[in-house]
Amino acid sequence: MLRGVLLKASGSPWLKDHLMRRRFASRAVRKFMPGEHLEDALDAAANFRQHGIGTVITQLGENVTQRSQAEGVCQHYLHALEEVRSRGLDAEPSVKLTQLGLDVSQDLCAQLLDTIAARADALGNYLWVDMEGSAYTDVTLELYRALRSKYRRTGVALQAYLRRSPNDLEQLLSIGATVRLVKGAYREPADIAFQGKQHVDEAYYALATRMLRAKKDDANSGRMIFGTHDMRLFERVVKFASDNGIAGTAYEVHMLYGIRTNDQLRLVKEGYKVRALISYGTAWFQWYMRRLAEKPSNLWFVVRSIVG
Ligand code: FDA
Repeated sequence: MLRGVLLKASGSPWLKDHLMRRRFASRAVRKFMPGEHLEDALDAAANFRQHGIGTVITQLGENVTQRSQAEGVCQHYLHALEEVRSRGLDAEPSVKLTQLGLDVSQDLCAQLLDTIAARADALGNYLWVDMEGSAYTDVTLELYRALRSKYRRTGVALQAYLRRSPNDLEQLLSIGATVRLVKGAYREPADIAFQGKQHVDEAYYALATRMLRAKKDDANSGRMIFGTHDMRLFERVVKFASDNGIAGTAYEVHMLYGIRTNDQLRLVKEGYKVRALISYGTAWFQWYMRRLAEKPSNLWFVVRSIVG
């Protein structure tokens, strides 16, 4: 129930206004992000690199309403790509399409996405597309498919909680897509998405095993990513892979900065390919509310930050 309340609260302009001005809130947010600037993310990426962990970097922000804002975001990512290269980092950018102007115009978004993907491709980097609320699933997949037909070095997130995802996965596999499988972080109605953890976990496992089978059938298929901190579920996936003769290096596990860092370090030592997704920026309110909703006991950090 608390998850629903927190996700609903993420849409409250009043709360956003009040929370973002509070010092304790920015202190609490630091658990999940190294800072507000690109440099903070790159410094953190350099630190992860020393431990053999790659990164994905994303500037926070969603649902921009002005063309100029979207163009600014595009310029930011082009700059980020150059910085990653000049610092010799293994950091791949990930974008939200509503941050690239999807609500302003689909054509604008497609054009900006293409610009970033082209640069990432030229630099030997990669571009990830996040998946947002279900109102955007169709258009995100449509834009990703168009992108993937031009640039192989692109991937998209797929949300296991959506009832439609098995069909979407088949379509993605048929074009050799790179898929980052996640459980899903938004508030969705029961006719669209599974609600309970057990149902979502089973849906995740079914999709994960389908991805692994596709990898086994075609070693040249896209990268297969399991974006989760659920170690019990990940171990089931690993067991399926090893039972079916699929090497641990055939897939990757991605986690969020600040969550289960010990497991990230342990898995990389065990030989898995691990990436940490680092978010940065000032537009952290909605994103932070989703992190609280994933684990409501995170509210204690907020309380401790108020006290601290
Ligand atoms: P689950 O929520 O069951 O958590 C398992 C365990 O992990 C918890 O018991 C807890 O110990 C720990 N944990 C999980 N979340 C935590 C948190 N916030 N704070 C502290 N501990 C936590 N979603 C989406 O809709 N679109 C997207 O594009 C992405 N992209 C994405 C990329 C990557 C790399 C990751 C890891 C996640 C996403 N997500 C996402 C978020 C995803 O949908 C999901 O909400 C979270 O990963 C939480 O689900 P878990 O799989 O971790 O399992």
